[in-house]
Amino acid sequence: MTAPARAPEAAAVAAPAIDARGLTVRYGDVLALDGADLTLDPGTVCALLGANGSGKSTLFSALIGLVPLAAGQVRLHGRTPDRARKQGLVAYVPQSERIDQAFPVRVADVVMMGRYGHMGPTRRPRRADRDAVDAALERTGLTGLAHRQIGALSGGQRKRAFVARGIAQGADVFLLDEPFAGVDKGSEATITGVLGAMRAEGRTLLVSTHDLAGVGGFCDRAVLLQRRVLADGPPEQVLTPERLARAFGLGAAGPGGPDRPAGDDREEESPWTR
Ligand SMILES: Nc1ncnc2c1ncn2[C@@H]1O[C@H](COP(=O)(O)OP(=O)(O)O)[C@@H](O)[C@H]1O
Ligand SMILES: [Mg+2]
Repeated sequence: MTAPARAPEAAAVAAPAIDARGLTVRYGDVLALDGADLTLDPGTVCALLGANGSGKSTLFSALIGLVPLAAGQVRLHGRTPDRARKQGLVAYVPQSERIDQAFPVRVADVVMMGRYGHMGPTRRPRRADRDAVDAALERTGLTGLAHRQIGALSGGQRKRAFVARGIAQGADVFLLDEPFAGVDKGSEATITGVLGAMRAEGRTLLVSTHDLAGVGGFCDRAVLLQRRVLADGPPEQVLTPERLARAFGLGAAGPGGPDRPAGDDREEESPWTR
């Protein structure tokens, strides 16, 4: 069983699921995004690729409204990020390093947070909320860990808990920041299965990954980021040796190329091709 996907309101049906124009983000002197554009129609599964420091995590933060924009605009199903978040339209699975492991909260509580948008101001869970949480826990293989502290989970289990929160929420747009990085094989298989099911349900997925080999089998689109979008299109057109060399700084990166090689990231096999 799954939480029902929310149908966007009639007025926004024609709007892209993600519409980001000219996103520019600075952290002090660091220009993390420099006019990045990304438009995804509902139901698109898009890989976000780029070297370390190319701005992938910043792009996710910008899409969900967690960093101030120096320039540009984001709309999710025609709404501001704030509004889309409040309406539960968008779910975000952060890169694990950004999760505060000491945060004293149980797995079931994290997943229940996905239901807040469905509850009244008292945030008292009703039957439907508990059912949605149970279903999301089951789907992500976390039923037996529901009462564990989130900080006591493995990296992969924690990622599954955040995926479960998005499922319980019934979000249409899923932003997944390196869901496969540093996860054990069991979690990898579970997450792969869950993403495949969400894809079949027509949800919109933006997934950052270093798994270049797996992208073609899973994604309709691939976007190469290096502060701005270097290439955007079908994976077979985007993942050319020349473009990858440019994005990952292999060989002659040229002016503005990243200063670190792609080999910084340790991902072995493809979770999407097995
Ligand atoms: N909170 C922050 N404060 C200062 N600089 C940051 C912060 N977050 C990211 N950066 C810098 O912004 C750039 C993009 O980082 P990030 O979005 O994390 O890239 P990626 O996810 O592709 O590795 C990098 O140079 C990084 O060091
Ligand atoms: Mg990142």
